Amino acid sequence: MNRGRAARIFRGIAQPMRRAHPVELAERIELNGGLDRPVRALSEAVREALPRGPLKNLLHGVPVGHPVHAPLTDLPIGAWSSAAVLDLLPGTEKASRVLIAAGLAGAVPTALTGIADWSALHREQQRVGLIHAIGTGTASILYAASLLARVRGHHLTGKALGFTGLTALFAGGYLGGHLAFRQAAGANHAESIAHLVPLGWHDLCQMEDLPNGWPVHHTLGYIDLFVLRLDDDVRVLADRCAHLAGPLHQGRMVRVDDDVCVVCPWHGSTFRVADGSVVDGPATGRQPAFDTRVLENGTVQVRPI
Ligand code: FES
Repeated sequence: MNRGRAARIFRGIAQPMRRAHPVELAERIELNGGLDRPVRALSEAVREALPRGPLKNLLHGVPVGHPVHAPLTDLPIGAWSSAAVLDLLPGTEKASRVLIAAGLAGAVPTALTGIADWSALHREQQRVGLIHAIGTGTASILYAASLLARVRGHHLTGKALGFTGLTALFAGGYLGGHLAFRQAAGANHAESIAHLVPLGWHDLCQMEDLPNGWPVHHTLGYIDLFVLRLDDDVRVLADRCAHLAGPLHQGRMVRVDDDVCVVCPWHGSTFRVADGSVVDGPATGRQPAFDTRVLENGTVQVRPI
């Protein structure tokens, strides 16, 4: 990155620092288009290094049904915060060293899961995620230097590096919170149909109006639905993808192990249309599915499962 570009990015981020509220800094990062070139280059590199498959699904948290990056951050945050407390007490050098080493070990899977999730986010989320990663990466480097200084017997230097690392960690962690709670990265975006659709059967459409083998969009009250006719059968899922609300009815239909699946057009999450279960991430949560039946007069009815 050339100097002028780096200066523009920094000016874009630093401008709101004159204001008091940190969320304004986070919002400024969201809108900073100067970050897009490195974001694009890094996302492409991550997508090439981490192709779709079992490892990427594991990093997203598909096998456990939740994103795993956020819970893993407890490891370095917990270990390094505890080390900071011990650093204020006499005679705790060895325990502090162990905690810092444990935090560094925990930072590895935390970073890998974060990178996998980051590669499949919206542009604004990726901008914040990049600065979040720079903050937490800086913290890791400072803690590694702190550990090295302590091992060499330079305890005061080690403590100073540790407290500086903790500051970088909290700054990066604040942006992680902004990503999760303000920008809803990692949250489930599929409608919670249990409270939006009353129990029981609901008329949806006529069977003759559904193209065979081609998904279409319908609405049921407040809910957008993905509707797929397969000969005499009809499959219905919530249309907004659990990952970041992409429109599933615009997705590609594929077969995985003989199951008919839909691939989200935005980041490629793949769901079985029979029950909404996840085949491939980044989505980790099952897509809400509906029971269906066809009445004698050809009316298709649905009810929440
Ligand atoms: S919105 Fe991201 S995979 Fe569907």
